[in-house]
Amino acid sequence: MLTRTLINIEAGRDAGGSRPAENDAFAGEFAHDLMRAFASRPRSISPKYFYDEQGSQLFDRICDLPEYYPTRTEVGILAAKAGEIAAQMGPRAEIVEFGAGSLRKVRLLLDAMDRPARYLPIDISGEHLARSAGALQRDYPGLDVQPVVADYTQRLLLPATLPGAGRRVGFFPGSTIGNFTPAEALHFLQVAGQVLRGGALLLGADLVKDPAVLHAAYNDAQGVTADFNLNLLARANRELGTRFVLEHFAHSAFYNAPLQRIEMHLVSRQRQRIALGGECHEIDEGETLHTENSHKFTVEGLRALAARAGFRPGPVWTDDEKLFSVHWLHAPT
Ligand code: AVJ
Repeated sequence: MLTRTLINIEAGRDAGGSRPAENDAFAGEFAHDLMRAFASRPRSISPKYFYDEQGSQLFDRICDLPEYYPTRTEVGILAAKAGEIAAQMGPRAEIVEFGAGSLRKVRLLLDAMDRPARYLPIDISGEHLARSAGALQRDYPGLDVQPVVADYTQRLLLPATLPGAGRRVGFFPGSTIGNFTPAEALHFLQVAGQVLRGGALLLGADLVKDPAVLHAAYNDAQGVTADFNLNLLARANRELGTRFVLEHFAHSAFYNAPLQRIEMHLVSRQRQRIALGGECHEIDEGETLHTENSHKFTVEGLRALAARAGFRPGPVWTDDEKLFSVHWLHAPT
């Protein structure tokens, strides 16, 4: 579990089972994964480590950048099609959101739905989850809001459906599914299909497009995405006491067309030594730490993937420029 994130968000305050004493040591999952990243070839680490408090703030700034089209395009689709989406949901549906997520997006759905029964946000970070669930509960006093602290990439146990409730609808916006490898995405969809049995999944997926548009979205003029990428090392310095010199690394993001994904790397700008938990690693000029994959989809490719996981693809909504897609996928029965 991501106990590091919990500690970090409230600056050392105990947030749900994590031990503040861990804070000083080169220990925990992040430390472990960082050591493994520098010891293996190719060097790579999960993008989940971007999102401490500062990383989450940088991501919010990314979403407002002129070059970063996904967030505003998806919000535009949800706003324009909320009525049609709500009609698919039917009365008294409940929403299961994978990730505590952007309240802005789920509000668009709730406002259009016919008497939503319950909202179940699932997130690995209890602190972040409590904050967003509380905020939503205040604005929707009649709604049953039940946060679930869990890692939705693992096996999932959700509260039983309510008596008299309508469909259970999973909500996975933002093209977060693009962070998974195709095999992981298939596995996620299979797990989601189990907990949504008889209901549906509303899934946001970024589309394959002109590589120049993709490139700009991950290489913004203000350098916010570069700071977001470099925050992984800054976070290690803050939390684990490492001594990465940020100036010795360069942000790199490019579209890998055959693999249909943006790759983000941190490129070493010189030959340097990295000390990590008693071990020393050499990294040559030009060698990289692979920090993120952001897969892009075709509408048909996404529908085929969902079908392989047992979903029956339904309506798809896109913007006029076909930048982003929102899919209604009927869960297995
Ligand atoms: C949150 C994973 C959807 O892949 O576009 C934004 C993260 N990385 N800019 C994405 C991200 C660099 C984002 N996701």
